[in-house]
Amino acid sequence: MSKLSEQVARRRTFAIISHPDAGKTTLTEKFLLFGGAIQLAGSVKSRKASRHATSDWMEMEKERGISITSSVMQFPYKERVVNLLDTPGHADFSEDTYRVLTAVDSALMVIDCAKGVEERTIKLMEVCRMRDTPIFTFINKLDREGREPIELLDEVENVLGIECAPVTWPIGMGRRLKGIYHLLRDEIHLYESGKNYMRQEPRVIQGLESAEADEVLGPMAAELRDEIELVKGASHDFDLDRYLKGEQTPVFFGSALNNFGVIPLLDEFVEYAPQPQPRATLGRTVDPNEDKLTGFVFKVQANMDPAHRDRMAFMRVCSGVFEKGMKLHHVRLGKEQRTHGALTFMADERATAEYAYPGDIVGLHNHGTIGIGDTFTEGEALQFAGIPSFAPELFRRVQLRDPLKLKALTKGLTQLSEEGATQFFKPIVGNDLVLGAVGMLQFDVVAYRLMAEYKVEARFEAVNVATCRWVSCDDERALEKFRNKNEQYLAEDGGGQLVYLAPTRVNLQLAQERHPEITFRATREVS
Ligand code: G4P
Repeated sequence: MSKLSEQVARRRTFAIISHPDAGKTTLTEKFLLFGGAIQLAGSVKSRKASRHATSDWMEMEKERGISITSSVMQFPYKERVVNLLDTPGHADFSEDTYRVLTAVDSALMVIDCAKGVEERTIKLMEVCRMRDTPIFTFINKLDREGREPIELLDEVENVLGIECAPVTWPIGMGRRLKGIYHLLRDEIHLYESGKNYMRQEPRVIQGLESAEADEVLGPMAAELRDEIELVKGASHDFDLDRYLKGEQTPVFFGSALNNFGVIPLLDEFVEYAPQPQPRATLGRTVDPNEDKLTGFVFKVQANMDPAHRDRMAFMRVCSGVFEKGMKLHHVRLGKEQRTHGALTFMADERATAEYAYPGDIVGLHNHGTIGIGDTFTEGEALQFAGIPSFAPELFRRVQLRDPLKLKALTKGLTQLSEEGATQFFKPIVGNDLVLGAVGMLQFDVVAYRLMAEYKVEARFEAVNVATCRWVSCDDERALEKFRNKNEQYLAEDGGGQLVYLAPTRVNLQLAQERHPEITFRATREVS
């Protein structure tokens, strides 16, 4: 086995999908704790950082030095190297989440045992199903009274349309919680409440039929045996192949807060979750074991570290080895780019990348030349496929308090739009600036960040735009004609591409009918 394929085989790159409050942050802390990446749980990021109100998001921004390290976390576990990519909590950031999901090889779904399948989990699962992403399931908060486990599995199967294979099973719940039974290993892991500090190594009883089980569980032992027999009869056995195809999800129960059931989850996860997989490009499929480096950018963030005012592009390595300082080919621009000061993301600090392997994430310094969806190679003209871009649905005119700050405003809007959550348009006629976003919260966030990061006070007001389309045409003269005729509806986006801002959907429809020679796209071209 070559060194590269050994490294590929060790990697597990995944994201956690869940409804807010299910326990994603708590579980992340425990993973890092067991991975030895942090000393004490609770220090990953400010609690409530991923909460749903604007003010909380802004709080998080204040602590950006900490929160950034949590967008990508790498930790060793057993022989494996685990990359956990964080997904933003608020629904308005969902496009960001979708793109993060294109950069992982598998996902972990966290469900609150009292609430079952919730709305955001359904949405995120839909995205995972589009790509047949393999899913592990963790049903959390066993220390609280929840719903019947069998009912929860039924709900996952019916609502999410994925077969469940229980791997661990709760013995009691809430105040009666005694532990979990590991169906694959025939082990009983006993729960001792109040041990939610550092690692918890629970007492393990080997064998459901053992005398020790009777001794410790008393009459519950017989009940458990009956229940497990029932569960085995009524549910599916874990089938690795079906899991890898995204047809079946292994299910684990536990309590993240109490460090309980987390190690069995992590043990099986690093064993069975897929290593970095081959990836489709527009021309061919790239195998992770190819010698030459390839990667794509799935996230761009401005001003990550206020002290340095740097911007960063997050690249997932798809093949080959990334070496600090190496020259990369920026395919869209057809240019070479040096990667001095590139970063890898360890859980405890931003560490300088010496090497990164397929599945790892590298942070490239971005001077405005790198966009979401960009591919980097060692020279080959490849373009990775399937990185979604979303059309804004809400539009506002940007009002500047101090007209002398126009330059700073334009710079701020351009840089923030590179992150992909908002789009910034300069209408061809007049001096207005228009901002498009997918969710309302984005306007508050942009106003806040313009103030905090660019010292510009801006307000947003209603503007007569209902929808937008990126326009293009192979025939330059036809495009020029179209441009002259429709000047009042046309704008340039931050990257200089031409966009049609339609006041109504009917107007758009008419424009499309009148100009069959023009291509109208709902999303910005990534390449
Ligand atoms: P999220 O990232 O998915 O939004 O969830 P987070 O981990 O922040 O957890 C949401 C709440 O659920 C937190 O309580 C957390 O302590 C609690 N929680 C997580 N896992 C468990 C568990 O296994 N059992 C119980 N009983 N609670 C759990 P909070 O009161 O909202 O926050 P905090 O004040 O405890 O930080």
